Amino acid sequence: MALSLKHQTIITLDCTHKGLRSKEQESAMETAVQEKAGTQSRYKVLEVERLNPTIGAYVRGVDLTKPFDEDVADELRLALADNLVIFLRDQKLDFEAHRRLAAVFGEPHVAPSTKPWRVPGFDEITKMHADENSKYVAGEDWHSDMSCDPEPPMGSILYLHTLPSLGGDTVFSSMYAAWDALSDRMKAQLEGLTATHDAVKAFGALVPDGMTLPCTSHPVARTHPVTGRKALYVNRGFTTRIDGVTERESEALLSFLFEHVQSPMFQCRFTWTPNAIAIWDNRCGQHMAIWDYFPQVRSGFRIQVKGEKPV
Ligand code: SIN
Repeated sequence: MALSLKHQTIITLDCTHKGLRSKEQESAMETAVQEKAGTQSRYKVLEVERLNPTIGAYVRGVDLTKPFDEDVADELRLALADNLVIFLRDQKLDFEAHRRLAAVFGEPHVAPSTKPWRVPGFDEITKMHADENSKYVAGEDWHSDMSCDPEPPMGSILYLHTLPSLGGDTVFSSMYAAWDALSDRMKAQLEGLTATHDAVKAFGALVPDGMTLPCTSHPVARTHPVTGRKALYVNRGFTTRIDGVTERESEALLSFLFEHVQSPMFQCRFTWTPNAIAIWDNRCGQHMAIWDYFPQVRSGFRIQVKGEKPV
């Protein structure tokens, strides 16, 4: 008797948990599980291992320190489209190799606001460094890179050569999953709205006085130009306001959405090792750098790749 009651409880709890997921999430998860082996077979030259059904994959089978073939480039683009963020380890990139890797995804995005941190002679390469003198680190809050720009970068390629003994992970969240998990009523409410993204919110205090910082309105939900999927596109780092609604309505909606995107259901977390690379798509994901290693050193370089006007 006691045994069957216990059994019943377990079944009930399981059903309740399932009920929290949207139909789209259920089916995406089932497809992802079924496709785990299939995903591998989509690739002829690279080995692509998913971290979970929603976001993130390890990529192996290429030496990015040397020139590589176009079929490798094709599969890197495919792996990014499939997984939103991809990770490669043990790739000791020099600036030329970093530039070559970024070119797989497009032209460099050179934001004027990165000027103080640029590598001399390589305008597109930004130094990302934290140590015992740092007062802040880049990307400490959830954000999509430079969403304040009229044409924000489609992606970013971060290479880190020096890591603290522990910590310094980066967390990534799928904005496809965040959008899919909203109810149809909420999606209908948000569809057609735009929101303001302001660089002053993200780094107004950090750039030289007199520098004009971008501020742009973008759709609250954008459609990814490669996959055709819809992704939520507001982030705590840059988004200041939902346009065309009252201040209080904007605050309520944004605070709900900022909280929503942080669900562990949409996330993966990458623990860096020296000479690892993360390549992420800003059009369908957000990320956050965890600064839990002060006063240790974490250091490397980042290139952003040109994107398009979000629609
Ligand atoms: C960034 O937001 O571009 C930095 C991410 C990181 O340092 O992990």
